[in-house]
Amino acid sequence: MQFPQKHSATGTTIFTVMSALAQQYDAINLSQGFPDFPIDEGLAKLLYDAAKGNYNQYSPMPGLPMLRQAISKNFKRRYGLDVDSDAEITVTPGATYAIYAAFTAVLQAGDEVIVLEPAYDSYIPNIEMNGAKAVPVPLSAPDYSVDWRKVEQAITPKTKAIIVNTPHNPTGAIWQKDDWDALADLVRDTDIVIVSDEVYEQLVFDGEQHYSVLQHEELRARSFAIYSFGKVFNNTGWKIGYCIAPPEFTRAFRQVHQFMAFAVNTPAQYALAQHLGNEANAPVHIMMQQKRDYFLELIRQTPFTIHEAALGSYFQVASYERISDMPDMEFAQWLTKEYGVATIPVSAFYKDKKDDKIIRFCFAKKEETIKSAIERLSGLRAL
Ligand SMILES: Cc1ncc(COP(=O)(O)O)c(C=O)c1O
Repeated sequence: MQFPQKHSATGTTIFTVMSALAQQYDAINLSQGFPDFPIDEGLAKLLYDAAKGNYNQYSPMPGLPMLRQAISKNFKRRYGLDVDSDAEITVTPGATYAIYAAFTAVLQAGDEVIVLEPAYDSYIPNIEMNGAKAVPVPLSAPDYSVDWRKVEQAITPKTKAIIVNTPHNPTGAIWQKDDWDALADLVRDTDIVIVSDEVYEQLVFDGEQHYSVLQHEELRARSFAIYSFGKVFNNTGWKIGYCIAPPEFTRAFRQVHQFMAFAVNTPAQYALAQHLGNEANAPVHIMMQQKRDYFLELIRQTPFTIHEAALGSYFQVASYERISDMPDMEFAQWLTKEYGVATIPVSAFYKDKKDDKIIRFCFAKKEETIKSAIERLSGLRAL
């Protein structure tokens, strides 16, 4: 049987490769982005309560009303924004799915989508699976800021969408209000749609704040904003996210969603609604900032170079320019085999595999995991 090739990212993803290698060499896995500590006990209990109670059948297609209302209240409380829980919020099986559904709602064969690279690895395959073409625009190292001139040059009459991501995976960079203003200037007289991946919105450090596309009135009118509970409540395996978009956009999004997943895991939606509604729950960024600070303190004692501390997400990129001149893919594998620490080579986040000799660490780990990993790296020597 010949299957059609739906996208250009053939082969196994680097996350699977590195996790398998980590297992094979009994390495500490700082590669894939997921917490290695337990979730809040209250949240786990709520899931049990939901399954024991009457929350085991299909939820309404847009999501449980109580969850959409809790999300709406949360956005009012944290951003002062009004979000209509009926017309503007759709609960999805994770953010990756929501990004795919948003692209499917707007793209037609031959359209172009601008992707700022390095980029989360699902974007380009998702664009290509819709018959559209990804147009990569590189961010500027070492702070991974956006070169707006390059974005402007990449816009053509075929540009249908731009996908942006703040806080940013893999670099930990965050957008300021100016970035949104610059984007608004570029798209003002076009029909370009913005897909704004904000899954790490609650993981912002050093007193900085997350600017959402939803806070930019002009851009909000043309945007899908995408979120993931996995990153907020440390339960990535629940795979529940949501999309906030203007009513017309939400209608188009649901046209896709109702024939893909239709509805999302009901007991988990119930548990999340109750948990989100409880304002006493500790904000996740405090705990994650402690982890970032601890990781930075220890990694700075090794020959890795940190050009910029991550201001958001749960990733820190580091250069190994003082350790080796191997290509990053080779270096990451060597580090796993020889030093027992698995990371992700940042070239994996570029379509053309651009290699800046940088690897990504995930610091959403128990203190003891971070400590053991850095102990293993303490034998590294500068060239
Ligand atoms: C930038 C970015 N977007 C989306 C996702 C996926 O979120 P979900 O697990 O809810 O699909 C991730 C997960 O790593 C991510 O880093």
